[in-house]
Amino acid sequence: MKKYILICCSSIVAFTAFYACKHEIPVGAIDPTPTPIPGSTGRPCSPDSVYFANQILPMINSGCAMSGCHDNITHKEGVTLTSYATIMRHVVPGNANASKLYTVLLQTGNNRMPPPPNAGFTPVQISLVQKWINQGAKNNACDMCDTADFKYSTAIKPLMQNKCQGCHNPASLGGNIDLSTYAATKAVAVNGKLYGSINWATGFSPMPKGMPKMAACEITQVKKWIDAGSPNN
Ligand code: HEC
Repeated sequence: MKKYILICCSSIVAFTAFYACKHEIPVGAIDPTPTPIPGSTGRPCSPDSVYFANQILPMINSGCAMSGCHDNITHKEGVTLTSYATIMRHVVPGNANASKLYTVLLQTGNNRMPPPPNAGFTPVQISLVQKWINQGAKNNACDMCDTADFKYSTAIKPLMQNKCQGCHNPASLGGNIDLSTYAATKAVAVNGKLYGSINWATGFSPMPKGMPKMAACEITQVKKWIDAGSPNN
């Protein structure tokens, strides 16, 4: 049996076989108050920069749970999912090509992370990781959210892609919920589950699973989109 390296989230762990990883649910610290990303308030996002807290960490969180390794890691090492410090063990700041966090995304076949049958990261996601590392792999954050923007294409879809889709796509249907297309997302909006889950309302599973509650501004964007009839705009 070959050894596979799983980068997921916090630590590189060599498993004797990647399929030892099951579809397990990560257990993370739950923060009951919707707070902005620390250090981001009033700091506008520069379109030229990639931000760890806004773009990289949510992607790794959801990609990790998709490949199902986090539970194994938690089991073995008790590491947390939301750590810049542990992710940095697999990053050479300024040099993506020398960073495992980046190079495993480019592998083919079963060496790729997340491993098949899970979808790999998209070219856009991969280039974000590359750019973030080459920009110095900083522990940075910015204030990206604008409640005036609640269009599907510019606000809701990127939010779902970044924070939800890794666990909610046809290959990985957490709770039988698909958030990878407009039609599927609309169905979850209309039945009340989308807002209930991100607002951590009683009777719903709090989402995004294993992560702190989304920023109030993001929850407001989703609410406004739903209230507008969840249009495909
Ligand atoms: C790490 C994996 C993961 C991430 C990330 C994630 N989910 Fe989930 N989600 C699940 C799982 C697993 C379930 C099944 C219920 C449970 O185990 O809590 C679920 C259930 C749900 C449900 C059904 C809730 C209910 O009470 O019926 C909704 C809606 C949902 N997720 C929406 C989202 C949204 C929106 C996001 C992004 C903001 C998100 N999820 C991020 C794994 C995830």
